[in-house]
Amino acid sequence: MSKVDVLLGLQWGDEGKGKIVDVLTPDYDVIARFQGGPNAGHTLEFNGIKHVLHIIPSGIFHKEKLNVIGNGVLIEPAIFNEEVEALRQKNVEPTENLYISKKAHLILPSHRLLDAANEQAKGNAKIGSTLKGIGPAYTDKIARTGIRVGDIMEFDFREKYQLLKFQHLQIAKMLKYDVESFRIGGLSLDEYEVRWMESLETLRKFKLINSEYFINNCLKEGKRVLAEGAQGSMLDIDFGSYPFVTSSSTITAGVCSGLGVAPSSIGRVMGITKAYCTRVGAGPFPTELFDATGHTLCELGHEFGATTGRARRCGWIDIPALRYACMLNGVTDLIVTKPDVMNDFDEVKMCVSYVINDKETEEIPFEFNEVEIRPKLVAFEGWKHSLGSAKNYDSLPPQLLAYLSAIELRTGVRIMAVSVSPDRKDVLFRS
Ligand code: GDP
Ligand code: IMO
Ligand code: MG
Repeated sequence: MSKVDVLLGLQWGDEGKGKIVDVLTPDYDVIARFQGGPNAGHTLEFNGIKHVLHIIPSGIFHKEKLNVIGNGVLIEPAIFNEEVEALRQKNVEPTENLYISKKAHLILPSHRLLDAANEQAKGNAKIGSTLKGIGPAYTDKIARTGIRVGDIMEFDFREKYQLLKFQHLQIAKMLKYDVESFRIGGLSLDEYEVRWMESLETLRKFKLINSEYFINNCLKEGKRVLAEGAQGSMLDIDFGSYPFVTSSSTITAGVCSGLGVAPSSIGRVMGITKAYCTRVGAGPFPTELFDATGHTLCELGHEFGATTGRARRCGWIDIPALRYACMLNGVTDLIVTKPDVMNDFDEVKMCVSYVINDKETEEIPFEFNEVEIRPKLVAFEGWKHSLGSAKNYDSLPPQLLAYLSAIELRTGVRIMAVSVSPDRKDVLFRS
């Protein structure tokens, strides 16, 4: 009986999960997404090709490997259809190696409308949602009113769809939303609905399965399964900076409910962190830099959202948040990405604790959003060196190794690999 290994983000998303999953895929038989949906944007680069995945797991470019969209994921059929088409343009035929859980929930056009309307109604308190309908669709799942992928094969699907859409429009009316004024991908609700309905045909061509049986049978057969997280631990619905979070369980616990595997079936938990920190959307970010350094990180790191194109907020690495994420996830191995972005920095800083009302703490406070947090920073000498020539982990510049050791020391977790460029080939694994 094998176990499910997990790879997930330890910050506020965009840590480089897509790239690392792609790199690790040769070691696995099955790659499975367990939560999130089209709010994710996972970038892969190889042979000069750059590709962004949203709902489809990042193992898809390895034709001989199976990919699974688990029950915990949300699928927006029109976005899924676009993703499938984009892969076909690159000669990848995903119907061959992608299975989809019948229990995954659907995002309807009216979920997207409600997402946009809810955000607009929040005014200055906006979460900065990706507007893909995530919050409203998970709301329906929990309220037991959602529609699942398996339903698209049923004779009464249209009826279910119309009923749920009607409920959404009633809610919109009650809240006095001006439904006519909202656009989804530049289209009105009715126009988008046509595209959405047509896209169901694409979804119907995939193998729709009970993924919990599939994954557990794989484990029984000794197959190696990798669960790919979306978003990041600090965006988790329970432990993130609520309400500035996403609506799913982004941590290891989410693997159990999002794939149907027992906690005892979890193996290694690989957590990814950037060598600095970013956040897109609103909410607390104690180490955020508003100065030229923050700007440089954004520019050199190309920190623009893979899903929305929004500029990401940038700052120094945040150890209290990282330690919290390691604790919640039971991280066994760390992976650090993007130190190369800071190659020219004279010094690199690390937040080791928070000072709140003159008191120092290493914990994330309940009042994370309300209190003023002063990060206590420790400076490290910059490595001032390109990392392209490093052949292995130990040949990285000593200043960078010192910085990485400090991360290990303060999180209590060993670093297993460092990524030094967007390309698949540039990951230095530690022996
Ligand atoms: P994900 O959501 O966690 O998969 O991450 P994203 O794809 O949204 O954002 C990560 C960005 O950083 C992408 O543009 C990647 O191509 C890029 N990237 C990943 N690893 C590295 C790295 O080690 N160095 C640099 N410079 N870029 C990287
Ligand atoms: P990946 O998988 C970064 C953020 C949004 C917003 C909040 C809620 O690429 O790391 P939602 O659309 O989920 O209701 O938005 O969460 N967010 C992400 N930020 N990376 C992501 O995914 C994100 N998915 C959602 O910006 O602040
Ligand atoms: Mg991303």
